Amino acid sequence: MQAVILVGGEGTRLRPLTFGTPKPMVPIMGVPFLARTLERLYEAGIRDVILPAGYMPQAITEYFGDGSRLDMKITYVIEDEPLGTAGAIKNVEQHITGPFFMLNGDVLTSLDLGAMIAYHKEKGGLGALHLIKVEDPSAFGCVVHDKAGRISQFIEKPPKGTEPTNEINAGTYLLEPEVMKFIPPGRNVSIERETFPKILADGQSLYAFTTNDYWIDVGRPEQYLTVHRDIINGTMPLRVEPGTNGSVHIGEGSRVDPSAKLGPNVVLGKNCTVGANAVLRDCVLWDEVIVEEGATIEETIIASRSHIGANAKIGKGTVIGHDARIEPRTVVPEGSRIGPSAPIAAR
Ligand code: GTP
Repeated sequence: MQAVILVGGEGTRLRPLTFGTPKPMVPIMGVPFLARTLERLYEAGIRDVILPAGYMPQAITEYFGDGSRLDMKITYVIEDEPLGTAGAIKNVEQHITGPFFMLNGDVLTSLDLGAMIAYHKEKGGLGALHLIKVEDPSAFGCVVHDKAGRISQFIEKPPKGTEPTNEINAGTYLLEPEVMKFIPPGRNVSIERETFPKILADGQSLYAFTTNDYWIDVGRPEQYLTVHRDIINGTMPLRVEPGTNGSVHIGEGSRVDPSAKLGPNVVLGKNCTVGANAVLRDCVLWDEVIVEEGATIEETIIASRSHIGANAKIGKGTVIGHDARIEPRTVVPEGSRIGPSAPIAAR
């Protein structure tokens, strides 16, 4: 079995984090997101992975290489122009040898891929789509199916109150290679909006594989913080490297002054420094971040090598990109986005 993981998106909603790091390389508890996904594939016995990339691909290729370090084979196909979710698949057609998984690169889930393979074998058709149930489906792609699981309709982001179901497309598909026939080459094509409806219109079958798994699309800063909270409190089962102490995770080489107050839900990457009397609550710091004494940081994400001056106060919902410098005593308003060289701007 092969897997194609889409890793070519620009990740605009995670800016300014994604100005310096492509979304698949954004760390989840100190480990790149994509490494977490590859780990899951490995556990399901999948060794052959194809990565359609395009945005900052060198960050991905340099880290994973040909995959041999992970005992996997990784093939990169770099897009000159973004081809969309189906266009990216069509563009790797020459590497596909049989049924394959297709995964959105920004989904974190506890889905059992082996169970999905068994389900697809039992049902047949051109593919199985992982669905999950959510409270508010209006922000997602709703998928309608009958009792036997056969899908009849895809409805993207239905207005609130008009949703036909609370089951949504969770971004993991197991597809037969025949799906390629439904994707025109050489242009941007969306699998959700164009290809899946075309397959149904042709009278072919797609089946819903609905589960109660943990599932989150780590596309926005709020979700990025939620994922860390969920991993720390055990809602999302994930292997975590040493360094976790209660709800505080301190990466290798990081130093925290004993008078600093950390937690709950604080993750420090590698080689960070936190000064005396600093207060950190619900935040994720990447590598080599310096927090000077007396700074207060709440519900904030700080990318690598940024520097928070003494007694600065960082408001909730702030996202600070790479190499940023917050001067001492600065009060950063809630919801700010601070880029490497951009001025402070409230949302
Ligand atoms: P936003 O700009 O914040 O919407 O993020 P995004 O660019 O990642 O888009 P989205 O979240 O819709 O993408 C879902 C998944 O598809 C992610 O894993 C993306 O990396 C991937 N993706 C989106 N568009 C493309 C594309 O044109 N080519 C490839 N190869 N992957 C894509």
